[in-house]
Amino acid sequence: MTEAHAPVKLVVLISGRGSNLRAILDAIDAGELSAVVSAVISNRAEAPGLVYARERAIDTLALDARDYPDREAYDQALQGMVDLFHPGLVVLAGFMRILTPGFVRHYAGRLINIHPSLLPEFRGLNTHQRAIEAGADEHGASVHFVTEELDGGPVIAQVHVPVLVEDSPESLAQRVLEQEHHLYVKVIQWIAEGRVTLEDDGPHFDGKPLKTPKQLEAK
Ligand code: GRF
Repeated sequence: MTEAHAPVKLVVLISGRGSNLRAILDAIDAGELSAVVSAVISNRAEAPGLVYARERAIDTLALDARDYPDREAYDQALQGMVDLFHPGLVVLAGFMRILTPGFVRHYAGRLINIHPSLLPEFRGLNTHQRAIEAGADEHGASVHFVTEELDGGPVIAQVHVPVLVEDSPESLAQRVLEQEHHLYVKVIQWIAEGRVTLEDDGPHFDGKPLKTPKQLEAK
């Protein structure tokens, strides 16, 4: 870890379980990640990840879409909440909402997502089942900068997971999830160190255009 950089302030957006959030917090505790989680925000008040964040004395907020007339109004309120914490990076960790172009533009270059597939394959939902049905022999996860296109922003890094003949969507999802945790921590650390940035011509790594996503070894 490079000590010259102040810890990056993260706001993490979740909708459910929060295992990626937990992996980020564990990595911070272990001194592997130079970051601080300033707040966790969920669109579901009952998200288990919020309970965990509260136990860790992290500020949590829940914002229910039913309280807002439309997507624009929701995202404006969300943006207002996120900006209260002045994050250096906004981390989508299982946040199950499509974000408006205005929101995405506001955080250009400091909004990342993790998706359980080797993008550009299998954008959207049910990726594990779709990978098995397609007969893929490899699956995995990708971390990408978020743009206006769903699961379509430039990919920073990926991790590959073999698909086994006996795999069910659940067993494959479980193995991919373990690798997601390792992948997300790694990419956030690169961003914290200033090694990964989003420039006009796409992502850069160590000051040079990142032409193809970094491929991480599965742990
Ligand atoms: C992960 O599989 C992530 O890739 C996807 O949503 C899931 C969130 O899981 N975007 P968790 O809430 O972090 O456990």
